[in-house]
Amino acid sequence: MAMFQGFVLQVILIVLISGSSADQHLLPAPENISMVSINLKHFLHWDPVMVDGNVTYSVQSQGEFESVYMPNNWYEPENCQEISAHQCNVTDEVSATVLYKFRVQSVLGNQLSAWKELEPPFNRKTSKNYACWLITY
Ligand SMILES: *[C@@H]1O[C@H](CO)[C@@H](O)[C@H](O)[C@H]1NC(C)=O
Ligand SMILES: *[C@@H]1O[C@H](CO)[C@@H](O)[C@H](O)[C@H]1NC(C)=O
Ligand SMILES: *[C@@H]1O[C@H](CO)[C@@H](O)[C@H](O)[C@H]1NC(C)=O
Repeated sequence: MAMFQGFVLQVILIVLISGSSADQHLLPAPENISMVSINLKHFLHWDPVMVDGNVTYSVQSQGEFESVYMPNNWYEPENCQEISAHQCNVTDEVSATVLYKFRVQSVLGNQLSAWKELEPPFNRKTSKNYACWLITY
């Protein structure tokens, strides 16, 4: 019985794995990933993909330390998962003046696009400063 259950589980897993890989990359990835950073508030932007259906987008980030020592470790900013907007506030992801990688993926039902990375990676020292009188005006 246990062996049979194991077999069924394996079949289900194989179906799930082949199903998801078959679906992968039919969906175009978001393009033109860019960072708009003003007064140390950082917003990742991308162009929406033009396909029928309610496409959403998910963002992942990776600090310089992880990039070097744990390249498979990506953070998933909570406020940037499966969102329909094509920008996201990633201010909280950037806690040091080092390089941060960001990447975006399109999601439609069970279809996932390839990841598209921000090039080059972001450093908050490039944040633009606007004087307070300009924004409180
Ligand atoms: C990316 O931006 C450029 C310039 O704004 C534009 O010409 C191009 O069509 C954009 N790419 C996509 C895939 O939207
Ligand atoms: C997209 O979502 C809206 C609102 O949630 C819904 O009315 C619409 O039918 C959806 N469109 C598709 C193609 O799923
Ligand atoms: C973006 O996030 C930061 C940090 O959580 C917050 O201080 C800021 O008000 C947010 N900006 C907008 C426009 O949501």
